[in-house]
Amino acid sequence: MIRVHGYLGQSSQALRDEAATANLVVGGRRHLDALEVPEERRIVLGALSTAVPKIVEAGDDARIVVIASGDPGLFGIVRRLRAAGLDLEVVPEPSSVAAAFAAAGLPWDDAEVVSVHGRDLAPGLAVCRAWGKVAVMTGPDQGIRELAAGLADLRRTYWLCERLGETDQRVRRLTGAEALELDDIAQPNVVLVLDPALTGSVGWRLGAPRPEAPLPQVDDEAARIFCRLLPRLGDTLWVRGGTGRQVGELARHNGAAVVDLDENPTPPGTPTWTIDEGVLS
Ligand SMILES: C[S@@+](CC[C@H](N)C(=O)[O-])C[C@H]1O[C@@H](n2cnc3c(N)ncnc32)[C@H](O)[C@@H]1O
Repeated sequence: MIRVHGYLGQSSQALRDEAATANLVVGGRRHLDALEVPEERRIVLGALSTAVPKIVEAGDDARIVVIASGDPGLFGIVRRLRAAGLDLEVVPEPSSVAAAFAAAGLPWDDAEVVSVHGRDLAPGLAVCRAWGKVAVMTGPDQGIRELAAGLADLRRTYWLCERLGETDQRVRRLTGAEALELDDIAQPNVVLVLDPALTGSVGWRLGAPRPEAPLPQVDDEAARIFCRLLPRLGDTLWVRGGTGRQVGELARHNGAAVVDLDENPTPPGTPTWTIDEGVLS
């Protein structure tokens, strides 16, 4: 039996009881220390690739407790364990994303949730550019400063939500300029990136809505380029000129971030594609 427990600053009595009697307890060193798991029963998470084979080896009869942050089903260990063919029970705590929006006092049924933790920053930046309410799970070198730098040409408000649930939890609301100056960022943290102009919610669907406007009319060349690329949420297009702008309109409709180089000749970051008039690169 493998039971995966969420953790956000506090361990439940159920987790403490199960960890005290499990054959193996898997988690971050800090969590294992807090639960006083003896060396011979612990697997320290870090290189997950070594943890999974040990869990598989322990066999079906072993009682295994895995501790992971927040809701382990959201950008968490559940995917990896399932991919290894393991059956699990999950006991979630609130996700750090839910805790971040709660700390900011904001609803989030209209938010996008992305992770740049150990991943490419560009798709996360594209989502923050395309949609005005995004929760970003960050990493030490891919955090609020890098987000603010990549979105420097846009009006955005940042909520830096550090060490949620811990005794030293801190939540700060910042402008882009303030975010760029930060030199005291604690880990882990979630960053909410908000467009102050965003109003209302789509109501029936989570995440970024499709624009309600009808599809724009475009010429054949723009339609051909759009069909070849099929840009979507997570992609960034830099466009220039009539054809470029038409591809941009379709791409925006499809959720991609679009920067018009005629209006903003030196945007930060790098695009997925550039369409300069009809020339694609
Ligand atoms: C691998 S993801 C796991 C997310 C987790 N499953 C959840 O629901 O919160 C790790 C990221 O979650 C965020 N995170 C996890 N615990 C946090 C906490 N206590 N405070 C703020 N952010 C946290 C950070 O962005 C961190 O880089």
